[in-house]
Amino acid sequence: MGKFTITLANRGGAAFRVDRRQTLLKSLEAQGVSLPYGCKYGGCISCAAKLIDGEVDQKAAVALNNRQLRDGYILLCVARPLSDCTLNIGVESHDTLYRNPFASPLRPDELKPDIATPEKETP
Ligand code: FES
Repeated sequence: MGKFTITLANRGGAAFRVDRRQTLLKSLEAQGVSLPYGCKYGGCISCAAKLIDGEVDQKAAVALNNRQLRDGYILLCVARPLSDCTLNIGVESHDTLYRNPFASPLRPDELKPDIATPEKETP
């Protein structure tokens, strides 16, 4: 126990055994997978990947809004596997990560609750 298999669908189905306690970014890079990243603390979304199947713990993924989460995005720098997972990685997985906010603004339900709910004014 303690290991899961991560399959990279858009890398020909290459599979890697990873430790459940390590972030996916760390585990995959240690096995030679080249991945984009920036901050490494869940704040910039450079490392986003699309989770096609499986489950991860990514409580620290503060940079993703609800729409991105519903579209299956995870942040590899903070995500730890909770099961075997299948992912699409790299910038080619970012096809729906960004959206023009002027052409298609986020609805309130696409924002995280703490952002969507305006602070009450104090008298
Ligand atoms: S590297 Fe910035 S969110 Fe993962």
